[in-house]
Amino acid sequence: MVFKVLTLFPEVILQATNFSILKRAQQRGLIKIEAINIRDYTKDKHKRTDDYPYGGGYGMVMTAQPIVDAYESIKSSKSHRVIYLTPQGKKYTQDIAKEFSKEEELVIICGHYEGIDQRVIDLIVTDEISIGDYVLSGGEYAALVLIDSISRLVEGVIEKKSVEEESFSDCLLEYPHYTRPYEFRGLKVPEVLLSGNHEKIKKWRRYQSLLKTIKSRPDLINAANLTEEDIEFLIK
Ligand code: ADE
Repeated sequence: MVFKVLTLFPEVILQATNFSILKRAQQRGLIKIEAINIRDYTKDKHKRTDDYPYGGGYGMVMTAQPIVDAYESIKSSKSHRVIYLTPQGKKYTQDIAKEFSKEEELVIICGHYEGIDQRVIDLIVTDEISIGDYVLSGGEYAALVLIDSISRLVEGVIEKKSVEEESFSDCLLEYPHYTRPYEFRGLKVPEVLLSGNHEKIKKWRRYQSLLKTIKSRPDLINAANLTEEDIEFLIK
């Protein structure tokens, strides 16, 4: 998977992805992260990449020319998805991450200020994506969220079992995890996890997932594949 990130702050992308799993994935050639500086493409004599909005109003708008030129200079035959990160976009989910992870390449545009000239969206953007209902100061932080969540779905980046077992893979939140020591500040690990009874542990984890989902994200329950046993447990 190649990520081509068009940004005014390439260092944010390159530095933040130079750790841990993403670093290893790059070293192993499973993913590639390129940060393209939009400012390098401006034809403005003062190297500006923004301007006042037509119609007046607060703030500045990123101009179309440097973004479109940057895109045209880095696009390839695999640039099928061009993602613009914006609070006006479709809400990002694990399903969208899965869909994006099937691509060989993703172009990601990071906006700043009040956004980008609409003609960039009209000309080159295929997907407008928001990572949540709040406003960030720049699209770079959202780009990092996409890069991380998509990379871990790329074959070989992390163990397959972890991807299959984690939150959202079955529309339920994950059960609680414990590791050593057995007792910490008076709190003990639930006995069932020490029982060695894998059937019982599986059941306990399933019920904990159900309880956690109902408590934190009741909106997810409808989409979950509940068994008769799950429903019985919930109405008890
Ligand atoms: N840029 C600013 N806010 C954003 C958000 N919530 N999601 C994606 N990109 C953004």
